Amino acid sequence: MTNAEILAASAAHEIGVYARQPVAFVRGRGAELWDADGARYLDFFAGLAVNNLGHCHPAVVEAVRTQAAELLHASNVYYTAPAADLAALLCRHSFAERVFLCNSGAEANEAAMKLARRWGSEHGGRYEILATTGSFHGRTFATLTATGQEKYHQGFQPLLPGVRLVAYDDPAAMAAAVRDETAAILVEPIQGEGGVNVPRPDYLPRLRELADRHGLLLIVDEVQCGMGRTGRLFAYEHAGVTPDVMTLAKALGGGLPIGAMCTSSRVAAVLTVGAHGTTFGGNPVASVAAIAALGELARPELLAHVREVGAYFAERLRALAARHSVISAVRGLGLMLGAELTERGAPVVERCLRDGLLINCCAERVLRFVPPLIITREQVDEGCAILERALAT
Ligand SMILES: Cc1ncc(COP(=O)(O)O)c(C=O)c1O
Repeated sequence: MTNAEILAASAAHEIGVYARQPVAFVRGRGAELWDADGARYLDFFAGLAVNNLGHCHPAVVEAVRTQAAELLHASNVYYTAPAADLAALLCRHSFAERVFLCNSGAEANEAAMKLARRWGSEHGGRYEILATTGSFHGRTFATLTATGQEKYHQGFQPLLPGVRLVAYDDPAAMAAAVRDETAAILVEPIQGEGGVNVPRPDYLPRLRELADRHGLLLIVDEVQCGMGRTGRLFAYEHAGVTPDVMTLAKALGGGLPIGAMCTSSRVAAVLTVGAHGTTFGGNPVASVAAIAALGELARPELLAHVREVGAYFAERLRALAARHSVISAVRGLGLMLGAELTERGAPVVERCLRDGLLINCCAERVLRFVPPLIITREQVDEGCAILERALAT
C-alpha cells in the first residue's frame, strides 16, 4: 500500500481524534524511518518519546521474538516470570520497592491517583490531589482532570472532584494550596506536552519538604521525562529527592505498550487484594521488551551519551536561535529539548517533514525534540540543517 492508500483507508474507518501528519511508516531502524512510498526520515520524535533506544533495537526484538513463541498472555490470576523480573529490575534501578504494571501512562497515573485516594482515606480521610497548570497526565477522567490544560477538558465536564490545579514551578503557590483534605501532589519533573518546561532546581526539593511537613505523597509523573531521556535514568534523580510514587510508560517497553506505577512498600500496603487491577498488566511480551529496554537504558555509557549529545544539540539550537529571531528560547535537559517560537510551530513541523525530519510542536509555539537517545552528533547536525532550512523558508 502507498502513503495515499493507507491515509484513505484510515480516513474511511478510524475515528479522527488525531491531528496526523500525512505519512504512513512501514519500517524503522535506529533513528531512521521509512514511509510506505519509500522515503527516508531522520527521527527526532521517537514515537513521542517512546523509541528511546531507536527503532527495532536488536535486544528488544530478540526478547519479543523469543517470548512470543513461548507465551503471549496468561492473566494476573496467575504468575509469570517476566512481570516479576521487570518489577524487580525497576526496584533495583529506582527508589521503589513495589510496582504495579499496566499498559499506558494514563493507566499508571490513574493507578497513582487511586493509590493516593486509598492512602489518604487511611490517613485521616484525606482525598485531594494537587496537580499543576500546564501539565499532561493522560486522557482517562482522573488523569484528564489532573491535566492542567483547558483545551483537553472541553466538552468532558464535569470532571473528577477532589483534584485541584496549582501554578507549576511555584513552590509557594503549592504550599498555600495544601489543606486538611490534601493527600498528594502530582507533578512532572519536567513538563513535556506543556512546552518542555524545566522548573527551578529547588522545585522538587521544596515539594518534597512540603509533602514531608504535611504527610502528603509526592507523585512524580516520569512517563515522558523518565527512562534515560534527561541523561539520568529517572528525572527525579537530578533534584536529589526521593518521591513516594513514580509513574512510567512510553519508553519503558522499548516500543511495546506497558506502564508502571512504582512506590515504597509502606505506601503500596494500602492497595490490598482486589483494590486495583488490569487484564493485560505485566503482559509477558511487553514485560520482556521492557526488561531488554531497561537493561540498555540504564547503562551508564548510554546516559553519559545522552548528556553529551544533549548538550551538543542544545548548543546547536542556541546557535540557530542566534541566527533566527523566530526562536525566542531554547530549553530542556538531556535529549528532551524545546525551542520556543514567536509564532505557531505547525508550519515549521510540516516543512521539516517534507524535507525528511520528524519533530513535533507542543503548546502551539514550542518545537519539541525527543530523538532516540542513541542519536549521533552527525545526526544532530543533519537534523539541525533541515530545521534551519525550515526556519528560513
Ligand atoms: C507526562 C505524561 N504523562 C502521561 C501521559 C499519558 O500517557 P499515555 O498516552 O500512554 O496514556 C503522557 C503522554 O504524552 C505524558 O507525556
